[in-house]
Amino acid sequence: MDLSLDGKVAIVTGAASGLARAVATTLVAEGARVAGADLNEAGVRDVMSDLAAGTDSDSCRGYGVDVSSREDWRSLVSSVENDLGPVDILCNIAGPAPAPGSGHLDTDDAEWTRQINGHLTGVFLGCQTVLPGMMERRYGKIVNMCSFTAHGTVANIPGYDAAFGGILAYTKDLARFAAPHNVNVNCVSPGNIETPMTQGWMAQPGAYDALRERTLIGRVGQPDDVANWVVFLASDRARHAVGVEINVSGGQLLA
Ligand SMILES: NC(=O)c1ccc[n+]([C@@H]2O[C@H](COP(=O)([O-])OP(=O)(O)OC[C@H]3O[C@@H](n4cnc5c(N)ncnc54)[C@H](O)[C@@H]3O)[C@@H](O)[C@H]2O)c1
Repeated sequence: MDLSLDGKVAIVTGAASGLARAVATTLVAEGARVAGADLNEAGVRDVMSDLAAGTDSDSCRGYGVDVSSREDWRSLVSSVENDLGPVDILCNIAGPAPAPGSGHLDTDDAEWTRQINGHLTGVFLGCQTVLPGMMERRYGKIVNMCSFTAHGTVANIPGYDAAFGGILAYTKDLARFAAPHNVNVNCVSPGNIETPMTQGWMAQPGAYDALRERTLIGRVGQPDDVANWVVFLASDRARHAVGVEINVSGGQLLA
């Protein structure tokens, strides 16, 4: 299926690693001009320069950014507009792993704030920064990374779960607001996917096999499984999708 992304300008946060790196890779393969943004500036620059090899070298750029900073967002969007052009697509994917031992009784203020800011506030600031331009041009696609944990399906990671519950509600609320301006806002909720964030616990004895059994199709999800949905939602092929949450978990939520 041709997704017709040739020349579209996309910002992908978190692109130094995991799911966002796969999204950036897929967007580039579909012809988009991609700005990867990450707290890990050296890492994202490396990823984007690898992706630029073999394409128009101006079509991929890496930028250092903390998504929880309004100032960083302002400067990112202004740099991307200058370097690549007006932003057509925003994929909000960056976010921190929950700290070990951050359950209901021991999550401290710092961990709570880190989770809410790194996920929910980052998504809010990103959307608020790109939206005026998208509305003015009457074109935009926003895809937020959510999680099956938004539904309270994993016990005892309160900050992480609450952040994703917020992202789910925010996505639907923003989708209602933005749709009349021809801006589609949707989200993707993966189950446990094998990435640098999850590889540590998946490597514990028995964990990988137990997870495989919790899915209904007997496999552990890979970053491409999620990236394909994100990029589809970022295309005009998904133009009738408004405020949708796509569950990509191999049936883990149903198991
Ligand atoms: N892997 C999974 O199973 C899974 C499932 C559901 C949701 N998610 C969510 O998807 C997102 C990506 O997960 P992943 O597995 O690819 O993780 P990852 O650790 O491989 O990548 C996360 C990236 O986000 C960046 N980042 C973290 N905080 C940031 C900040 N404040 N500003 C800018 N960049 C920041 C990191 O530097 C890293 O490059 C996360 O929000 C995660 O919670 C992951």
